Amino acid sequence: MQTLSQVLKASNAPVALQDVLTTTTNTCIDICKALHKGSLAGILGVAGNENVQGEEQKKLDVISNDMLKSDLMSCPAVRAVASEEEDDIVPANTNGEYLIAFDPLDGSSNIDINAMVGTIFSIYHDQGEKPATEADFLKPGTEQAAAGYVLYGPSCMLVLSTGQGVKMFTLDPEKNEFVETQESVTVDKDTQEFAINMSNQRFWSESMQGYVNDLVAGKDGARDKNFNMRWVAAMVGDVHRILCRGGIFMYPWDSKDPTKPGKLRLMYEANPMAMLVEQAGGKAHTHTQRILDIQPEGIHQRVPVILGAANEVDKCLSY
Ligand code: AHG
Ligand code: MN
Ligand code: MN
Ligand code: MN
Repeated sequence: MQTLSQVLKASNAPVALQDVLTTTTNTCIDICKALHKGSLAGILGVAGNENVQGEEQKKLDVISNDMLKSDLMSCPAVRAVASEEEDDIVPANTNGEYLIAFDPLDGSSNIDINAMVGTIFSIYHDQGEKPATEADFLKPGTEQAAAGYVLYGPSCMLVLSTGQGVKMFTLDPEKNEFVETQESVTVDKDTQEFAINMSNQRFWSESMQGYVNDLVAGKDGARDKNFNMRWVAAMVGDVHRILCRGGIFMYPWDSKDPTKPGKLRLMYEANPMAMLVEQAGGKAHTHTQRILDIQPEGIHQRVPVILGAANEVDKCLSY
């Protein structure tokens, strides 16, 4: 079995991109260790402040953000970083060639119940004479040079794409390195499993309510099959399930907060996951367009997300 560094060396990824990926994933190994210490390290619970998203920060949101920020800032290939937990982008090295946007801890409401969380990252190539600005980050997801996540579950896994399919790696905790455990990931076009937070049902659009009603009704309704439902409450866990055994994941538009077009963040969640899902043969859309085609207007922009099995995403959009 090949290690991550062997796989990267054998790929045609530029050396600077390999450096960024090595730095990011090594920091994730450190985050994994911090998570394993849990209460023993006094790192559970709230940090006592709100992030720019208007969410209460957990201590581990702050700790994982600080770890990634500081390690990436000292990687010469990094030009700037943007994070769910930072108000503004953070310029690193003017000569660096890569911009990294990350969700340092996805699913942070799961931390205190010792359930699945992860780190999601999205990497863009970008060069310039002056320090990077927010405008440099506002590129559509089609331009991502790489995207991936590290899932802190029963085992620690890295799922990565550099634009040539999707690979899965498992952390060998004794050797402290990721080892390739699935060379090529594919998502079946059809599925009998969906993921959505049903408690928001009454706030969805009429068409989304109609679609989900038909999923629930299964063979007793308009569909020729029955559906099962799962919800991890961490996008990283729900997308991982889809990459492992298929399915459709939705965090659609809802009317709870008219100022927000969706809950999930385009740059830190939707774009990197859309790249992985598309690279595995699935689809990722908002209600009206392909996620990767969206021209971002701000680093913290939110979008509705419907992704997974291609035929089921099409079916959902047909409502
Ligand atoms: P984060 O913890 O990074 O803020 O992201 C949480 C997101 C996402 O991971 C998950 O799919 C969704 O919020 C869960 O939302 P609900 O609490 O509405 O189920
Ligand atoms: Mn959050
Ligand atoms: Mn998240
Ligand atoms: Mn987060």
